[in-house]
Amino acid sequence: MCGIIGYCGPLDAQGLILEGLSQLEYRGYDSAGIALFDEESHMHFIKKVGKVAALKEACAKDPILSHCGIGHTRWATHGGVTGENTHPHTVGNVTMIHNGIIENYHALTENYHLQGKLKSQTDTEVAAAVLNELYTGDPLGAIREFLGCLEGSYSFCIMFEDRPGEIYAVRNMSPLVAAYTGSGAFIASDLTALLPYSRSYFVVPEQKIVKLTAYTVLLYDPDGRECEPEILTASWNTNAAMKNGFPHFMLKEIHEQPEVFKNTILPRLNKGLPDFSDENIPDELLKNVTGIRIIACGTAMHAGMVARALMEPRLRIPVTVSVASEFRYEEPLIDDSILSIVISQSGETIDTLAALRLARESGSKVISIVNVKGSTIARESDYVIYTHGGPEIAVASTKAYTVQIAALYLLFCRMALARGVYSEEHAQSFTGSLLACAPAMEAMIQKKTLIQEIVTHIVGSPDAFFIGRGMDYAFSLEGALKLKEISYIHAEAYAAGELKHGTIALIADHVPVVAIATQTNILAKTISNIREVKARGAYVILIVTEGTRIDNGLADVLITLPATEDKFTVFPIAAVLQLIAYYASVQKGLDVDQPRNLAKSVTVE
Ligand code: AGP
Repeated sequence: MCGIIGYCGPLDAQGLILEGLSQLEYRGYDSAGIALFDEESHMHFIKKVGKVAALKEACAKDPILSHCGIGHTRWATHGGVTGENTHPHTVGNVTMIHNGIIENYHALTENYHLQGKLKSQTDTEVAAAVLNELYTGDPLGAIREFLGCLEGSYSFCIMFEDRPGEIYAVRNMSPLVAAYTGSGAFIASDLTALLPYSRSYFVVPEQKIVKLTAYTVLLYDPDGRECEPEILTASWNTNAAMKNGFPHFMLKEIHEQPEVFKNTILPRLNKGLPDFSDENIPDELLKNVTGIRIIACGTAMHAGMVARALMEPRLRIPVTVSVASEFRYEEPLIDDSILSIVISQSGETIDTLAALRLARESGSKVISIVNVKGSTIARESDYVIYTHGGPEIAVASTKAYTVQIAALYLLFCRMALARGVYSEEHAQSFTGSLLACAPAMEAMIQKKTLIQEIVTHIVGSPDAFFIGRGMDYAFSLEGALKLKEISYIHAEAYAAGELKHGTIALIADHVPVVAIATQTNILAKTISNIREVKARGAYVILIVTEGTRIDNGLADVLITLPATEDKFTVFPIAAVLQLIAYYASVQKGLDVDQPRNLAKSVTVE
């Protein structure tokens, strides 16, 4: 995600835009830039790698008197964290800032013969070059034609060199709001940047073009006709707006999952087949390795556990998961025949970094799955698959978990193709089912009120158990960690079949047990284990997929997931487990986003 803002009006555009970028910085902070028309209608550009503070410092050295400009704070998706990749991007007459992902930028590059003409690695510069080709002096006509060329998610703010004092904006999927006040015309990614100037605003309708000037904000439909926006009134204060109106970053990030899940998958699909050509991962590597070692910490390690349960039975090679802090000292058997997959949201976890270095020293090639562009783990890997999760602010990892698994699933599918395990048709079916998990996640997020009610039975208990078999056990691990780290309830994940070997002694009346039973091949066995805990007084919260036959009285609460193939149930289940933890923490009145003793990135050993 990125933060974008535009302003036209009587105020100091440079200062206003810089302040707005600070408000939007939670959306991305790899680099920031600004473009301004000065009093003589000349355009000026300042771009800096790093946080908005660096841009502010650069602007303070050479302030521009301006009343019209656009600004951008970047969360890198296409292209590394470099000055060239920093927005705004200018091609000919067109200057543009962008939030989103243009999926067909390869085709546009070819169709408009842009090879060798681009200065950056971004999809945005490609978009600016296309619009520049189409622009012949009519901004609205050129933008309408431009939209017909694009596939993907976007919110653009655009200035044309020969149209000083005007800003154009348009969106598809990515957010964009606009306002007109006595202080001028505003456009931004979200309310955060508008609230200091206006509480009345409108959400820019998709595919409709906004034109801002110092004294007007006009909205045009795709046919070029002017239309009236639906004016809304903000009920948030600025701090709340940083969370887009959610009470906590964690809940906001849970809600973002369907969007960022698609953002991570779609740019890596080519005719429905997984495509890692942008990451330069050779099929030869995926085809020839004789084993896989997945290495990570915490939630990232749990994502690896899910991937292992998917990969090993299908690829028929050993796939192991190691806790990074253990891997480093266990003298692991690893060499150039083994592929190492390192997973880290922050890309800075010191244990994971040390494990990566050990793997590489042993000759193993390393593919890392990382959310933060240009992070240390990404830079030290042989190959990196960036998840497009956007900034994850809450300490409890949520969207990072689901986008990590999405990336791992795509990588598995590519490996299955390269090794002849999957035909192209099979792979296309797999990726189609994977994408269908986005609405399944959304469906469970919409059940949050039901989950909020269930949690009261957990909050009063000092202990809770999460049980399952196979993949369900892997999901249980993440459910227990989430609950522990933000509600401080002692929660334990257990392989359901292992309970009777000791731990079942802890099951007594009303002890909450979250039982996950979505794996068809072992469903009957899991049900038996649930009967065992129920018989000893447990309060059973059972999670199954639609259509699963459950005997009356087996569960105190039944949570039903949309019908989903066994191997894809992780995505809707993740939302349920995250919401259980979230509401437990809220009901206990705890600091959901910054729980005690924890930090977002563990850079100490
Ligand atoms: C998960 O909710 C925790 N925040 C923690 O376990 C985290 O997943 C772990 O520290 C790994 O962090 P990383 O993904 O940034 O490497």
